[in-house]
Amino acid sequence: MLEITTEPELRDAVRAARVRDERIGLVPTMGYLHAGHASLIEAAHRENDLVIVSIFVNPTQFGPAEDFGRYPRDLEHDRQVAGEAGAHIIFVPDESTMYPDGVEAQRVWVDPGPLADHLDGASRPDHFRAVATVVAKLFNLTGPDRAYFGQKDAQQLLVIKRMVRDLAYGIEIRAVQTVREEDGLALSSRNVYLDAEDRRRAVVLSSALGLAREEIATGERDARTVEQSMRSMIEREAPDARIDFITVADMDTLSPVTRTIERNAVIALAVYFGATRLIDNVMVRFSEGEPHFI
Ligand code: PAF
Repeated sequence: MLEITTEPELRDAVRAARVRDERIGLVPTMGYLHAGHASLIEAAHRENDLVIVSIFVNPTQFGPAEDFGRYPRDLEHDRQVAGEAGAHIIFVPDESTMYPDGVEAQRVWVDPGPLADHLDGASRPDHFRAVATVVAKLFNLTGPDRAYFGQKDAQQLLVIKRMVRDLAYGIEIRAVQTVREEDGLALSSRNVYLDAEDRRRAVVLSSALGLAREEIATGERDARTVEQSMRSMIEREAPDARIDFITVADMDTLSPVTRTIERNAVIALAVYFGATRLIDNVMVRFSEGEPHFI
């Protein structure tokens, strides 16, 4: 596995792969890789000749009160996880490679449009603009055929899919299912912040989604009822947690479903355990009136 830190070296490697007529798969990450990232890299490895994993903690996508400074980093471990999962190149740029004139001097941004107004975007202003912009830079640097994103960040996935379509990137966006701990907690680099008690309670995110699935599978279609059941469960099982949002959202627009769940939807939630904000979701697709859950 090759480790590249500069733009010229990366462009050389990409050019060489193109000359060899290789398909390129990109897995953008912020490092601190876990089994969820490994499954993205493995999928990229199965479907491409050259797998590039980028590792860059993007400062612009963190709000002023968020955890950029303490976001976990472990490059040694990342090298091992990426290599074992099948990466050929890890691209580890420094800030001046991604923001040549400095973060403050960035003038052109990708506007993700109304998809960014809902769910996480409502609590994290400018987050998706920064994600779309850094991902656009990574696409421009690596020119991939396919790029891999986890379903856990459902809104990010939809924003990137939309960006690719609206800006004619010609890149296939591949969604990879959320990887979970045995008790159901979705893997996240931020899980490391949880103390033992919060870690135990954090399982309530996936339990609440399980409850929503069960209700919808057995015929409940009222979005408010489903949201309320989830809220009650979380308040009961994790009384110290603070719910940021629990929303049944339309899968295409991400706007809240106000009445009946009858089209494809994302059920998403964000919950704080102390200062740690965790997210999770389940997608519901209807075919011939029957719900299927992803
Ligand atoms: O999902 C992430 O880790 C980040 O948002 C991404 C896509 C690497 C952009 O910084």
